Amino acid sequence: MASSATSRILALGLALLFAAGLAAAQNVASVVTDAFFNSIKSQDSGCEGKNFYTRSAFLNAANAYPGFAHGGSETQGKREIAAFFANVAHETGRLCYISEINKSNSYCDPNNRQWPCVSGKKYYGRGPLQISWNYNYGPAGKSIGFDGLGNPDKVAQDPTISFKTALWFWMNNVHGVMPQGFGATIRAINGALECNGKNPGAVSSRVNYYKQYCRQLGVDPGSNLTC
Ligand SMILES: *[C@@H]1O[C@H](CO)[C@@H](O)[C@H](O)[C@H]1NC(C)=O
Repeated sequence: MASSATSRILALGLALLFAAGLAAAQNVASVVTDAFFNSIKSQDSGCEGKNFYTRSAFLNAANAYPGFAHGGSETQGKREIAAFFANVAHETGRLCYISEINKSNSYCDPNNRQWPCVSGKKYYGRGPLQISWNYNYGPAGKSIGFDGLGNPDKVAQDPTISFKTALWFWMNNVHGVMPQGFGATIRAINGALECNGKNPGAVSSRVNYYKQYCRQLGVDPGSNLTC
């Protein structure tokens, strides 16, 4: 009796967990509609990312990060989606660029012994948030399941892995500062080069995308938008 009651409670718990996970995934998909995703994409025919960055690759990647756009109110969830795509739009020219234009820099920090650079490989920006540096490619690859240090080009070849690197970076560096306002997301992504008057053009580009996407999603952008 006791064990069957226990297993019934366990089964109920599992079903609730599963339902919550499903609801979370469906929630992102219901906000990031085809229309919303397509409005982000540049319609420029010269875009290398035109057929690479797809909504389904984004949703596949988002399924692996159930905390993304969750954990707070519906308003906070929509703001996080707007903030993610605002930074993505700025970094990639509205999902146009897959890899950084200037490929001469290798973005290798030789002092980082934990994630040593592989000879001949370059860790310049790739993907929706232009992940760069050996100390990001290494742990992102380990967490997602590809050889980030030995095969950084994977981020420019597999669209789901590409979105996963962006969400990996987001969940580890940006998600936690969302309640402080959009300006804190800029600081977390590129603060040293943009905040405190260092690059007001870049900051206003990110903020303008954010306000526009909040408008499209019908949510107030909140305060503290700049940095
Ligand atoms: C590319 O980056 C390198 C290293 O920062 C720089 O010296 C070079 O001028 C850049 N090339 C272009 C075309 O911007």
